[in-house]
Formats: sequence, C-alpha cells, structure tokens
Amino acid sequence: MSDLHDKIDKEKLPRHIAIIMDGNGRWAKEKGEDRLFGHFHGVESVRNIVEGCAELGVEYLTLYAFSTENWDRPEYEVVGLMELLVSTIHKEVESLNKNNIRLHVIGDMSMLPAYARKELEEALEFTAHNTGLNLIMALSYSGRWELLNAVKHIAYEVKQGRLKVEEIDQDTLQRFLCTSGFPDPELMIRTSGEYRISNFLLYQLAYAELYFTNVRWPDFRKENLYEAILDYQSRERRFGKTGEQVATQSLGE
Ligand code: IPE
Ligand code: IPE
Ligand code: MG
Repeated sequence: MSDLHDKIDKEKLPRHIAIIMDGNGRWAKEKGEDRLFGHFHGVESVRNIVEGCAELGVEYLTLYAFSTENWDRPEYEVVGLMELLVSTIHKEVESLNKNNIRLHVIGDMSMLPAYARKELEEALEFTAHNTGLNLIMALSYSGRWELLNAVKHIAYEVKQGRLKVEEIDQDTLQRFLCTSGFPDPELMIRTSGEYRISNFLLYQLAYAELYFTNVRWPDFRKENLYEAILDYQSRERRFGKTGEQVATQSLGE
C-alpha cells in the first residue's frame, strides 16, 4: 500500500463520499479523440475508485454519472452513454456481487430507455442482499428534480389525509428524497477543475466538505482519492459552532 493510503486515519473516514465525475470529454479532446472515448476510459476510473472505497471501508459512494441536463447533449453522445452504462453494468455486476457491493440508483428512471431500466433493475435485485459498500449511481438525476418530486409526494400525502402540514419536519422531507436511508455525504469531490455543484445533491450537501481537483475523471485513481480523504481529514468541521466549541467537544469524546 502507498504512503498516502497509510496516512489515512481509519477512525475518521467519511462514511459517504459523493463524486462529480467530470472531464471525460476534455480528456478525450486533448488526445484528439471523440468525447465517447473519454467516457469509455472513465469506466476504468469508476472501477478503481469503487475498489478503493471498498478496501478502505467507506460505507456509501455516490457517483454522478448522468444529470437531468445531460439529456440535452447531442443524441449520439446520449445514446453512447446509455449503451456504455448498460454494457458496463452487465459486465461488472458479477464482480460487484463477489465484493459484497450493493448497487442503488437515484434519479428519474422513467426517462431511461426501457433496455437500460431493465438491466439496472436486474443488477439492483442481484446485489440487493449485499452488506458491504453501497454504490449509488446518480442517473438522470438532478437536485432540483429530486426536491420537486419530494414536494409533490408530500403534497399528495397531505391531500390523502395521511400527513398533517404541522407534522412536516426535516425528517419528513428526507424520507421523500431519493437518498432516504443514506447518510449525507461528508465529502464531495469534483474532478476536472470546475468549481460548481451542477445540480448534484443540493439538499444533502448542506454541510459536506467540498474538494476540487484539476485531474480529469479518466485519470482519477485511488491515490487521488486518498489525497482527497487526507485533505478532508485535515479540516475542522464546525456545523455553525465556534472552533473553541468544536475543540472542547472533541476533547470530551
Ligand atoms: C463527465 O464528463 C461525464 C458526464 C457528464 C456524463 P463530461 O462529458 O462532462 O466531460 P467535459 O466536462 O465535457 O470535459
Ligand atoms: C455534471 O457534469 C454531471 C455529471 C458529471 C454527470 P456536467 O459536465 O454536465 O456539468 P456542467 O455542465 O459543466 O455544469
Ligand atoms: Mg463536464
């Protein structure tokens, strides 16, 4: 194992890491290749990072693979991405299962082509009993879509008389998000040098530590992940309190 890996404090691992896997297109263009070539190579990074998280004992890994807005890309790219998604899941599901990894999906599945939905549903079912890393793929996902969806569901529950307006609290809202049952990410990584959230987990990232790197997603490997985790571990998470309060609190632990 590497030096960086050994420096990680295993007692202070983030339980949940979320990643905006960005930069595939530029990576390919820089090599004089088509954007799809970049997406194809991005799969190798997914494999490597899933393995890295599972080895460390991270409990939840959410990967932003396709946003609601990505549907507006040129058709050949959207089709290429869907095909890549389906073939990758088909190829990887055995190995996910062998490694005790449970697959989840968040997003508007009704937007996906039927063949992709079917492949995903089979993979979800196949890995449903696994108890190791929870791998959450954000597909046809956006934070605003998710919040809108939750609001509609809550309104419907009220209309049906199953929920009172006065009873609605943060737990209610959490329950109607796609991520209900998952803890909020403590660490959010975005690759490729863009400093924005791009409609990812808008509610859940409220107190996440944000880490940005210039590395393009197809070049991102375990070592880069370790660097991000070490950076996270060097930060003081205050949640609105003062530094002194946090210091006293951690002494008392
Ligand atoms: C991320 O890479 C993958 C998806 C959004 C599907 P991009 O395709 O956004 O690559 P860049 O940002 O154009 O380089
Ligand atoms: C965000 O990347 C979505 C995914 C990584 C799936 P984009 O490349 O779509 O984001 P913008 O358009 O640069 O904000
Ligand atoms: Mg991009």
